[in-house]
Amino acid sequence: MRKIVIAIDGYSSCGKSTTAKAVAAELGYAYIDSGAMYRGVTLYLLEHGIPFDDLPRIEQALQEMHITFKRNRKTGRNELCLDGVIREDEIRQMRISNSVSEVSVIPAVRHAMVAQQQRMGRKRGVVMDGRDIGTTVFPDAEVKIFMTADVLTRALRRQEELALKQEHVPVEDIVENLRKRDHLDSTRAESPLRRASDAVLLDTTHMMIDEQVDFVLERVSATLFSLAAGGWQGSEQK
Ligand code: DC
Repeated sequence: MRKIVIAIDGYSSCGKSTTAKAVAAELGYAYIDSGAMYRGVTLYLLEHGIPFDDLPRIEQALQEMHITFKRNRKTGRNELCLDGVIREDEIRQMRISNSVSEVSVIPAVRHAMVAQQQRMGRKRGVVMDGRDIGTTVFPDAEVKIFMTADVLTRALRRQEELALKQEHVPVEDIVENLRKRDHLDSTRAESPLRRASDAVLLDTTHMMIDEQVDFVLERVSATLFSLAAGGWQGSEQK
């Protein structure tokens, strides 16, 4: 069967990655968490003491760092590696969440990550989640979903995830972090977070994960059916 690209964009903590992972597993596609890559760059810059406004050093660092994913055989998940070492836990910490939007506005960082993401998806058969997948990375993605949810619902979900990793953060701090990131992500000059004109809106405020996954899988089935019948017309015009 023909393989397609599924782009899942939207605000932080709407359930994008949980949905994307489950959809990829169901279809036997690769799952790529593009946000993890920006988090990896942020961790690298912090660990090497590189200030976020030192562009020459950032450009040099981008040449030197290796951002890859490694499949965890036990969980079946792709884990982010920085220079060959799995750093999945560190990149999810609040200190990274608090800085990542500042790093992901830097054009050189975006260019490097977008080019790598495009290479990862060139054979299609991928589900990629992020902020600019349907608009910039794969404007020709056959299925595009734009996810959103009420900010308090998102903060409570995030708090639960952090608590599982023994990081206990007050919900107000998370709401503040989410609002700040939403603002920075949607107002930056370089590929801001926005809904592609041909993306389907999915509000997950009152939805369970299974419903979200079914929603996306239904879109995929409809698209594959339409492609097989020769009816699919195309994608967002840049
Ligand atoms: O999905 P996430 O919360 O792990 O993403 C972390 C940050 O990375 C988010 O605040 C914005 C940025 N990001 C981006 O700019 N473009 C993407 N495609 C994915 C994430």
